[in-house]
Amino acid sequence: MLRGGIVDKMPGVRRRKTKANERNPITVLGMGHVGLPTALGLAELGWKVFGADDAVHKIEQLENGQATFYEPEMQELLTKHLASGRFEPTHDVQAALAASKVVFVCVGTPQRDDGAADLSQIEAVARTIARNLNGYKLVVEKSTVPASTAERIKRTITRYARLSPANGARNGQAGVGAAHFDVASNPEFLQEGKAIRDFFHPDRVVIGVESEQARELLEQIYRPLNCPIVVTDLATAELIKHSANAFLSTKISFINMIGDLCDAVGADVESVAQGIGLDPRIGRQFLKAGIGFGGYCFPKDLRALIHLAEEHGVPCGILSEVESVNLDRVEVFLDKLRHALWVLQGKTIAVLGLAFKPLTDDIREAPALRVIDRLRKEGAAVRLYDPESMPNAQAVFPEIPGRVDYCRSAYEAARGAHAALITTEWDEFRKLNWTKFREAMEVPVLVDGRNLLDPAEMRDAGFEYLAMGRGSRQQSAGKAHSRGRHARAVERERVGA
Ligand code: UGA
Repeated sequence: MLRGGIVDKMPGVRRRKTKANERNPITVLGMGHVGLPTALGLAELGWKVFGADDAVHKIEQLENGQATFYEPEMQELLTKHLASGRFEPTHDVQAALAASKVVFVCVGTPQRDDGAADLSQIEAVARTIARNLNGYKLVVEKSTVPASTAERIKRTITRYARLSPANGARNGQAGVGAAHFDVASNPEFLQEGKAIRDFFHPDRVVIGVESEQARELLEQIYRPLNCPIVVTDLATAELIKHSANAFLSTKISFINMIGDLCDAVGADVESVAQGIGLDPRIGRQFLKAGIGFGGYCFPKDLRALIHLAEEHGVPCGILSEVESVNLDRVEVFLDKLRHALWVLQGKTIAVLGLAFKPLTDDIREAPALRVIDRLRKEGAAVRLYDPESMPNAQAVFPEIPGRVDYCRSAYEAARGAHAALITTEWDEFRKLNWTKFREAMEVPVLVDGRNLLDPAEMRDAGFEYLAMGRGSRQQSAGKAHSRGRHARAVERERVGA
């Protein structure tokens, strides 16, 4: 039954040999982009897992064997573990909690208007757990949360457990039973599009714990993955997660700022990234210049970390600059288009890529959405294509024939276009027949927001090709700087899902 699965293909990953899966089921609360891959990964490692979520439609879709979002290898695992019985989706959160000793909390922590993380779902989960403490529970915080959230979870569980009949509370009088639980922090580092691979091949696992029991339980779960396990206290584990995302965002904004300089002086950012990235102290990854970082994690986690630092009076100007450079990207990108076309009013623009990155259908905070929003406001018609995320995008920009058209292929999007934009670096776009693409266009202007293509090849193919930080001298650093405030104002209008 287990042969040929993902674990079997992964050297170094061992499946658990015991039948502890039957004795100690695990509950994963929240079936989103973190919870579902985590739940299926644990099932593949041999655990019985309840995938709990109070969104009935999500659970029904999972019960019917359909993944609720696109993630490579996930559908295969879902099908396998519905059949094996090791993954059980449920909206009966209380029953799942009652049956489990370990509970992974993977609910959403969206951004509030003031930039702080909205922890209301975490607080609600803590109260639900408090009401269902029928024995020792290890509550594992996996959602990305600001440092000291675990402390608040502990306080909330303790307070509400005293009011729970399960702990002897009667007629509004607090009970005396001691709530028996631990809270641990186990941040996730899964990248969308690689979440299943990342689950089985983590660079490290971080666990913030306060008791030996919590540590042993988590080590037992993660030991088969054969990776370094960093054991620390709760607040440190929480801060590791935010620091990791903030550092990666910093690398991206750094290289984008260098890209602006490259455009100003006629240098090539791709070669700069290679030249610095080969130094192992710097590293080659996350130095891809382009239209900036999006997604559900980097923008909101950066904001939340800035908020946390400000709350504690810790100067964090470096992070604010990272954010500011990122918000400038769409304007820097669109200025290249404006430079080429002069006027956007009445033009038709093909937009290739809607997802915030390839291999996902996730459009949350995708730079492409802000690009489309600006194009629409400036009176351009858009012809949109993305291999996975068009159904999600239609909820944000409904189809209006002749103004907003969703196309079945990149070639269809090119039809009659005065310019084409690359906004997500899908491999499919790299492999297009660009001569055929150009022939479908009205005017062969191509603005590559992801530096996906080779400039010389594109020019040979007959395009007026513009990219990010690849030496097109039309922008001055001064202009880019003054756009920061404008981009922030645009961002406040928010077009994301
Ligand atoms: C990110 C982190 O990489 C994960 O480790 C973390 O677990 C996750 O957030 C999270 O907090 O849940 P993810 O948002 O899936 O993962 O995507 P990334 O691959 O990190 O890309 C984020 C954005 O940065 C994308 O829009 C991507 O296009 C952009 N990016 C990335 C660049 O512009 N340049 C780069 O060099 C790399």
